[in-house]
Amino acid sequence: MEINEVKQIDKTVKGWLHESRDNVLRKIDTRLTVDTKTSRKDLVTNIDKQNEKFLVSKIRAFDPNAKILGEEGFGDQVHSTDGRIWIIDPIDGTMNFVKQRNHFAIMIALYEDGKGVLGYVMDVIGKHLLSGGPDLGVFDNGRPLPPIQDTTLREGLIGLSGPMVLHNDYNMVDIAQQSLGMRIYGSAGIDIISVLRGELVGYISYLKPWDFGAGRILCQTAGLKMTTIDGQRLDVLSSTPVLLATRNAHQDILTIVSK
Ligand code: IPD
Ligand code: CA
Ligand code: CA
Repeated sequence: MEINEVKQIDKTVKGWLHESRDNVLRKIDTRLTVDTKTSRKDLVTNIDKQNEKFLVSKIRAFDPNAKILGEEGFGDQVHSTDGRIWIIDPIDGTMNFVKQRNHFAIMIALYEDGKGVLGYVMDVIGKHLLSGGPDLGVFDNGRPLPPIQDTTLREGLIGLSGPMVLHNDYNMVDIAQQSLGMRIYGSAGIDIISVLRGELVGYISYLKPWDFGAGRILCQTAGLKMTTIDGQRLDVLSSTPVLLATRNAHQDILTIVSK
């Protein structure tokens, strides 16, 4: 894709995100309609659905030939990475959104033929928009992201998934113990922003394409490693335990996982 086209898309998507944030904030104190999906802990609200419909309508008007993969199902059935694919998580951290009205994100990714072009992760209340891609670099609220220190696991805080720690999946307890401490934020988007901003040395969770699609583009551009939990290449259409970390911490964690 031509650089000018990438810049034009970037400007357009930022406009959608600002509108989307305003829409969510306008309704944040209203009574939510909350439904469960696969379990009592897997929630969807009227705002998740409205926001996905809003973003899908913007993408359809702007890029009518592209496919859209949206968590709440208002996009398309996507089975291959051919062509342009937009991936949307309209509210990431819905449990936080419902119980805290805080600590949730809106995420959008654009892939072309399986290659990441642009990614956006927005902390709605914390007012951080991490954006960019391989052609532009990574930006935090429009400013170039400072270089990320290649911290080891022992020197940093690690973001983990609560259920994975409770079940000690992949020696998660050892990973937490070797770090300076674990944090469980409950939103992949908030964890990804925290790793990009150098607040966490890494993040591990079972994730779906809309949870990691945008973050994968930003993190790889920023020199972080994002793979499956056993260090394999992450396929953008897969649902799998994901390991994101600095290069040093990634190696430290792989050693513990394979013990
Ligand atoms: C969830 C959150 C959570 C992660 C789950 C995701 P959702 O996203 O990111 O932190 O552990 O795997 O499904 O459902 O609130 O968009
Ligand atoms: Ca979601
Ligand atoms: Ca999500």
